[in-house]
Formats: sequence, C-alpha cells, structure tokens
Amino acid sequence: MPQNFKLELTHRPRRLRRHASRRSLVEETVIRPADFIAPLFVVEGSPAREEIGSMPGVFRLSIADIVKECGEIHALGIPAVALFPKLEVRLKDEAGTEALNPETLILRTVRAVKAAVPELSIVTDVALDPYTSHGHDGVLNAEKDNVDNDRTVGILCEMAVMQAQAGVDFVAPSDMMDGRVGAIRKALDAAGYTDTAVMAYSAKYNSAYYGPFREAVGSAQAAGTKLLNKATYQMNPANRREAVEEMLLDVAEGADVVMVKPAGAYLDIIREVRNATLRPVAAYQVSGEYAQIHAAARMGWLDLPRTRHESLLAIKRAGADMILTYFAQAMAKALQ
Ligand code: PBG
Repeated sequence: MPQNFKLELTHRPRRLRRHASRRSLVEETVIRPADFIAPLFVVEGSPAREEIGSMPGVFRLSIADIVKECGEIHALGIPAVALFPKLEVRLKDEAGTEALNPETLILRTVRAVKAAVPELSIVTDVALDPYTSHGHDGVLNAEKDNVDNDRTVGILCEMAVMQAQAGVDFVAPSDMMDGRVGAIRKALDAAGYTDTAVMAYSAKYNSAYYGPFREAVGSAQAAGTKLLNKATYQMNPANRREAVEEMLLDVAEGADVVMVKPAGAYLDIIREVRNATLRPVAAYQVSGEYAQIHAAARMGWLDLPRTRHESLLAIKRAGADMILTYFAQAMAKALQ
C-alpha cells in the first residue's frame, strides 16, 4: 500500500468521534439515576446484614435497615424501590396463606418505608412464590400438576388491594397468570385505589437467569429442588411474537406500565414491545445478569464499572423507560 494512499469520501463518520465534545453532542442515549428502580430484599427480625452468595453487594435487610437504605436511595435521585420479602420457611404452605396476613412482612415494610420516605415510589410483587412451600407463583390445581390460574388470580387480587392499602405506588403482578391485570385493576378500583398503578410483568420469560433471586428469597429451596419448573406460566425464551401479544393483553386490561424480563438477553423483545405500545416500558435486569457481570469481574475478566454502565445503556437504548437493576445504587453513585 503506498504511503500517500487517500480515499475520496463524502462521509467520514469518524469526524463526529474525533473529540469528547463532539462525541457528547451526538450521544443518543443517556442513563441517569432517575431511570432506575432498586430491588431490595427484606427479612424478619434484626439479623446481621446477610449478603446473598451469588449477588455480591446485595443484602437481605431488616425493616429498619431497608428504611435507612431507602433514605439513601432517595438521596441518590433514584425514584423507586421494588421490595421483595424472604419469609421464614415455617410461614410457607401449599396455599401461600401468609400472603393474605394483614401483618405480613412485606406490608409492614411498605408502611415503614412510606412513613419515613414518602416521596420514594414503592413497587411490590404480586405473586405467591415467597409464600408457597413449593415455590410456585400460584396455588396448585387438584391434580397438583399445574398452577390453577383462576384461583390464583383471586388471591392475587386480595394481595394487590392489601398492598395498595399499605401505600404502594405500583403493584407489580409477576406471576404470568392469564387475566390477572384486568382482575387486579377492577379489584383496586372497587376498593377505592384508583390511584394505585399496575406495573405488569407482561413478557416474563422462563429464564435460568433468575437463579440467584430464588436463592435470595428462598423460593428454590422451598421446593427442596433447584428444578422448579415455571414453564406452564412463564414464557418460552424462544418466543418473540408472543411477548407482544402478552403485552397488548395487559395494556387492554389496564396496565399502566409494561415490563420485559430478563433484560440483557431480551433486548430484541424490549424493542419490539417499545414499538408496539405507547405505554412506558420497564425492563428488569435480573439477578443472573448481575451475578454474571460480578463473577467475570471477580475473575479479572471484565471491568466492572464499564460493563455495568454498558449493560444498562444497552437496555435503555433498546427502548426501556425504566430499569429494575441491582446496580441502581452503585450506578447512581458512579453517575454523580
Ligand atoms: C417471582 C419473581 C422472580 C423474580 C422477580 N419476581 C423469580 C421467579 O419467577 O422465579 C426474579 C428477579 C431476579 O432474578 O432478579 N414472582
């Protein structure tokens, strides 16, 4: 190749990458603390902070510590938390009875956080998996070979009303039962909670990436097996059109926000859903996505801050308006 080789080009895209100032002018996607929802795990009593083995930096917290953490999250500019309870095994049964106890852990937590940090939005899961001895998101049918859709939805409606009464901003059905969004909306309205929003886990896949979360809330151990199969209600990872159909049903039934979960391996689904609705789209960067990045960083194989940032940027670029992520606090600090 001659030394003085020159191309006659009309377009040289590198021009706009020449300096940081030019690059920032043409930057298409920006992530900010206000995009995040921080998931938190609450446990009974006042144990020492228990770190979750496969989720470095994520702890199961007492109600008092959750309240403290929520104050910090609010101060970081993060607008919301998603609260998940880890129940003592003795409180679990086949029917998930504890879910409808008015003094159950999650409801006491919600009341405490709302009293202390009223400006922070609270999202709570509407599903039975923390409460059932088998770890499924609903109650089983008579043959005990499937989750009973309609009976489960009946229970979820009561759960949602109790959560609304405790003061949550969003109830988030994560169970994937048919018709639950419409039934929950009706139940909330009938009880006078017209202002409580529904964040629907619309396209929730039957994913291996939930492994660390099930350890965190003890829903895998509850079944005495790691082979808990949710394939009869959660979506097949092979499907894309079905995600759009699920989302459209949820919107028609009154969902305020729709969600895709997991996020990183489902960017095409986020984009597809984004293009098919005008409603806000949430994406859940799940426990396994978090664990994967941390594990590789621990091995010295990936740079944690850069990978973290890039993983969240990709989810927002795909079309998510808000992201549930265990990186929320660390990312918000890094963005300051
Ligand atoms: C269950 C629920 C799950 C998650 C949130 N709600 C797991 C499951 O379906 O077993 C997973 C979140 C994560 O992996 O971070 N209703």
